[in-house]
Amino acid sequence: MESLLKEGRVFDPPAAFRAQANVGADLYDEAAKDRLAYWGRQAEQLDWFRKWDRVLEWNPPFAQWFVGGKLNACYNCVDRHAAGGRADKPAIIWEGEPGDSATLTYADLLREVTRFAAVLKQLGVNQGDRVAIYMPIIPQTVVAMLACARIGAAHSVVFAGFSPEALAFRINDSGAKVLITADGYWRRGQLLSTKQNANVAVESCPSIETVLVVQRAGNDVAEGWVDGRDRWYHEEALSATGDVPCAELDAEDPLYVLYTSGSTGKPKGALHTIGGYLTHVASTHRAVFDTKESDVFWCTADIAWTTAHSYVVYGPLANGTTIFLYEGAPETPHRGRWWELIAKYRINVLYTAPTAIRTFMKWGAVEPAEFDLTSLRLLGSVGEPINPEAWIWYQTHIGGGRCPIVDTWWQTETGGMMVAPLPGVTPTKPGSATRPLPGIDVAVVDEDGNPVTRGGGYLVVKSPWPGMLRTVWGDDQRYASTYFSKFGPETYFAGDGARLDEDGYLWFLGRVDDVVNVSGHRIGTTEVESALVGHPAVAEAAVIGREHEVKGQAITAFVVLREGNEPSAALEKELKAHVTREIGGLARPEEVRFAPELPKNRAGKILRRLLRDIAEGRELGDTTTLIDPTVVAVLQSHK
Ligand code: WT7
Repeated sequence: MESLLKEGRVFDPPAAFRAQANVGADLYDEAAKDRLAYWGRQAEQLDWFRKWDRVLEWNPPFAQWFVGGKLNACYNCVDRHAAGGRADKPAIIWEGEPGDSATLTYADLLREVTRFAAVLKQLGVNQGDRVAIYMPIIPQTVVAMLACARIGAAHSVVFAGFSPEALAFRINDSGAKVLITADGYWRRGQLLSTKQNANVAVESCPSIETVLVVQRAGNDVAEGWVDGRDRWYHEEALSATGDVPCAELDAEDPLYVLYTSGSTGKPKGALHTIGGYLTHVASTHRAVFDTKESDVFWCTADIAWTTAHSYVVYGPLANGTTIFLYEGAPETPHRGRWWELIAKYRINVLYTAPTAIRTFMKWGAVEPAEFDLTSLRLLGSVGEPINPEAWIWYQTHIGGGRCPIVDTWWQTETGGMMVAPLPGVTPTKPGSATRPLPGIDVAVVDEDGNPVTRGGGYLVVKSPWPGMLRTVWGDDQRYASTYFSKFGPETYFAGDGARLDEDGYLWFLGRVDDVVNVSGHRIGTTEVESALVGHPAVAEAAVIGREHEVKGQAITAFVVLREGNEPSAALEKELKAHVTREIGGLARPEEVRFAPELPKNRAGKILRRLLRDIAEGRELGDTTTLIDPTVVAVLQSHK
């Protein structure tokens, strides 16, 4: 954090950009004057079947936005554009990893979504049901989500890189009745079978009536195919006919459940509802990305993450934007792939994560310089703090020095961006996400909840906002205790540390809980620990995140073996593979350190701070609270 604290450069919005920007400085004043009226005006940008009676009903910690209003997210993202002059405008431009491609106009999208909705209806999916989606980055994934939204079923999208176990947990927790998956997809030149994983998962998912399979890769899926349960989408679509109108839904009806890791226990399903969420993501997409009618917008996140829910699907499509989707990896077939795609499709706005930028930095500036990146006019960053060096590299080598950079802080739980610059208004400092967005009431507080005006503390949100999660799916108690207990029921505790500088700018300092951020992905240390302890050789495990040059953080696991097992390179490999099987590759420890014991205090709590110091090779802080201070010396000498 040292270099971050010394960062003093300030970049004013380029004059040419400022002159054409969608919003001006008055937006901050307008929102400050009357927050609820401001959000009401943002909501008016959507099409409603019935206008709301009240903007907000706040029974801490439970919020309802646009109470009494009726709308449909699919109608707002598709139908109104297809009917309103954007019928022939591309909605989705997609390129697959092998170089195959597709374009869907808004008229195409409407036809595809309606057909998909008809198939879901035919399979017995009704308003109020849940549908799990386990798909690669293909247009049909977006189509499936919008089809759910159309009929009022909540979707729960699960990352295709997650293991069958992780998928099964999410299906069972949400009680999904249909699982939508694909035969397979390409990643780094390899064909991966989504269907095989789905087969394993649904064996332990009694709620699943149908597995609906979209054809993508054409791989053989005969093995494990269960007639009656498994159906090809393209075959179902032949018999599913008729118009499926957009259901007139309540503003507070569920739109989706998205699982995210926390510091304790199993992943939590963040519930997002229609009216407030769509208002938040559409208005922030418009203001922070300065969205223009002619823009081609590329958010590189996988559709399964919150970033893509809000800024691939709902925000951009609500605004009638053309979105770009890419199925594959950035180095396949070569390290200039992204830049080639930007040049080919004349992409205007790129939204990606610091870990990607650091990877490109490592690869060097040669590849980006080989392609024409002059179509870019704005660059975004999300997922973790961006180090100033990466920020400057991004601005110089990708943005050609002319593109403003928007560093956007938010979370799965917040639904949309909370802290970010307005690119035509807010001066930026490399490494700072700048100020809270208009209508967002953020503060940094100390341990007792008192605001700190300068220096570090906990990031909190002091008033409800439209995109906020409404609860943890099926567990109001957990919602209240996780987010609204540390500082009382009115104050949202984000789990991030932040610092305010002399200009009131926010500098994010990482998580304050036991959550690790690996390449912008949130991983609960307890989940990895449970996976490790589930292995027959492991007695005890403690997992921490240590600083990593490219990934931000990397997972180090300290493992105590059961009697009769010896540390070895083979066992280290086996334990890493075990975590991959249990959770997925993104939770795989970078290193496993075998330890004779773990450092604990007298209450039996593992002192992770010490483990982090050990993993990062630092001087150890206070060790006097340890039951057995000699443990750390042993750990330090072990590797
Ligand atoms: C956590 C949320 C929001 C989409 C991606 C991650 C970290 C996110 C930033 C940023 C510093 C950031 C926080 C947050 N984070 N964006 N611009 N600067 N940190 O969503 O998986 O819900 O993770 O990501 O620690 O709490 P998520």
